[in-house]
Amino acid sequence: MYYTILGSMGVENILITGASGQLGAVLTKSLQQKFGIDHVIATDLRPNKEARGIFEKLDATDPEALKQVVKRYKVTQIYHMVAILSAKGEAFPQKTWDINMGTLLNVLEISRLLKVKKVFYPSSIAVFGHHISRINTPQFSNLTPTTVYGMTKVAGENWGNYYFNTYQLDVRSIRYPGVIGYQSLPGGGTTDYAVDIYHKAVKQEPFECFLKASTRLPMMYIEDAVRASIELMDAPAEKLSVRTSYNIAGMSFSPEDIVASIRKTYPNFEVRYNPDFRQKIADSWPMSIDDSKAREDWGWKPRYDLDAMSRVMIENLKSYYNSVIA
Ligand code: SER
Repeated sequence: MYYTILGSMGVENILITGASGQLGAVLTKSLQQKFGIDHVIATDLRPNKEARGIFEKLDATDPEALKQVVKRYKVTQIYHMVAILSAKGEAFPQKTWDINMGTLLNVLEISRLLKVKKVFYPSSIAVFGHHISRINTPQFSNLTPTTVYGMTKVAGENWGNYYFNTYQLDVRSIRYPGVIGYQSLPGGGTTDYAVDIYHKAVKQEPFECFLKASTRLPMMYIEDAVRASIELMDAPAEKLSVRTSYNIAGMSFSPEDIVASIRKTYPNFEVRYNPDFRQKIADSWPMSIDDSKAREDWGWKPRYDLDAMSRVMIENLKSYYNSVIA
């Protein structure tokens, strides 16, 4: 009895939706290390074949299915990582709205009903659009996004804020910049070129870039992005003054900057520029972000700059491709 009470008081059970996605996969591993493999429930439509631990096939658009998993595992925190990203979303505007908003509303409402303690909701630099200062974009800026994905993130931030103010549900959120990692591939984003480019460089193949050489965007190494999310979730609630979503910055660079960084290892790396519809999306986003609120409130500080990231990306992708060939 004593044991049960102790257990139910102190134990956190963490559910991740979209756990097989680019960020979800790496986040799942970090949360398993932090909370123990038996306390992290990875969910997605498809399993991540390389992942260890508990996996539940879950369609987060189905509220009953989500409710059952939250109940069965006595979930105390949810990281809601499901989303259709900016570029792919433009091909299916209504479906993107339905999936991004429908899954979030399910997560918020079920969290309220079943008394989940905390919810993490990823927002994005895609919330910004025209009529902003594109350099060091302030926390509280005009939010008129140009993509449906961005529209869902603005609405999602406001829903999170609403559940916090109305129901005291502890929703926390970060506006991720473009996220770059070697562990998993992104799908359908405007910043994805910055992941693909490393794969080509390591395979010693030429790269065709869908953005112009000078297009500067806010970016972040995946370890920083995952650490930021967990640090925000760990921060004392009373320190958090922003309940829509925090600006966070890692680094800012353009395709020509990342090429220069890669050429420090591969001097003959060849790149061609062939901008497509994603150029217009990128042109509506900030070039750099002012994240002073996140720094002040919960001590955010990035660890990776462009060259540090290039070194880890190249090293890890080299071992990966060598092991595939071997
Ligand atoms: N990386 C995302 C995208 O490009 C931005 O949140 O869509």
